[in-house]
Amino acid sequence: MNTGHLATLEEPQLTAARIFSLIAPELQLVEAEFERQARSNIQVIAYIGDYLRASGGKRVRPALTLLSTYAVGGEAARPNVIRMATVMEFLHTATLVHDDIIDNAETRRNRPSINSRFGNQTAVLMGDWLYMSAFETSLAERSLPVLDILTAVTRKMTEGELLQLTTLGRADLEEEQYFDILMRKTAYLFSACCEIGALLGGADEHAQRALRDYGLHLGTAFQLVDDLLDFTATEDALGKAAGVDLLEGKLTLPLIYLLAADPQQRAAVLSVMRTGDYDHSPRAALIAAAEQTGALARARRRAVEYAEAARSTLDVLPDSPYRDALRSIPTYILERES
Ligand code: IPE
Ligand code: IPE
Ligand code: MG
Ligand code: MG
Repeated sequence: MNTGHLATLEEPQLTAARIFSLIAPELQLVEAEFERQARSNIQVIAYIGDYLRASGGKRVRPALTLLSTYAVGGEAARPNVIRMATVMEFLHTATLVHDDIIDNAETRRNRPSINSRFGNQTAVLMGDWLYMSAFETSLAERSLPVLDILTAVTRKMTEGELLQLTTLGRADLEEEQYFDILMRKTAYLFSACCEIGALLGGADEHAQRALRDYGLHLGTAFQLVDDLLDFTATEDALGKAAGVDLLEGKLTLPLIYLLAADPQQRAAVLSVMRTGDYDHSPRAALIAAAEQTGALARARRRAVEYAEAARSTLDVLPDSPYRDALRSIPTYILERES
């Protein structure tokens, strides 16, 4: 996606390679820890665990935990930080495995999703196993604040998915409901990753709050971009199906804005939701209408606003390469193409 107008975000920007190099050894430890946590005497679990690990993923969430620990002056290479960064990726993976069942998704990370490869029954149970393994590992921390955050975020993610189910097929979804669901599905987990990183790094109250807010804004921008990409990008670019939100009956922000700008599009939108295909209202026509009415630009603008908000919450942190890395991530999220 070409976000174009990033002028307001201009300031010294670390390259992606530089950000990655700051925490490359720690991310390698996270990979090894993921492999360790996914081990099991039960063959089917070990097999699927390895399938999930090997399929990659951007590892955005553990990276945020590690950077947050460093940004508050902590030591992210410590085993407990590596463990918790891995726990965050485990929780994320669990939500993906369940989400793909809910969304009937066949592809994830350019491969068959767990449900399409192993069936829904196995996928439900594997998701449960991932959740519980994540909690078991996090218990070793003996930290009630950490457990508080993890249980709250897990509950919120489930609420987000449940709320979303109640809105499927509705062309009258309001912006406020949309944001409520989006934040529960995605933003609180980003927030938890940053806040836990801060806690483990020994942050004071201000720094902890700043990183919690940073994650919330960043995660909101991230899911806004995800929804924009679903609307405009191709399956090849995404490594997962494109244009499917509407097919599944999910109204996302570009479409909410399109319907506000041009209520006549309502019939086309409802037709896609009802039939589950774009035969009568082509996807390209909806994208063009969203371009023309400014709906697309307006939705992008919202993502930029959240990215900017994320960036400015970091002002209270001491100057460091890690803070610079965190400040640079919002731009990459806006520019990401997968
Ligand atoms: C996908 O998250 C789910 C959303 C919150 C949109 P990512 O895009 O971080 O997925 P991976 O881990 O890189 O595959
Ligand atoms: C992602 O929701 C949020 C999760 C909690 C998994 P989506 O359904 O929009 O994400 P993708 O498009 O499947 O990655
Ligand atoms: Mg999905
Ligand atoms: Mg979903």
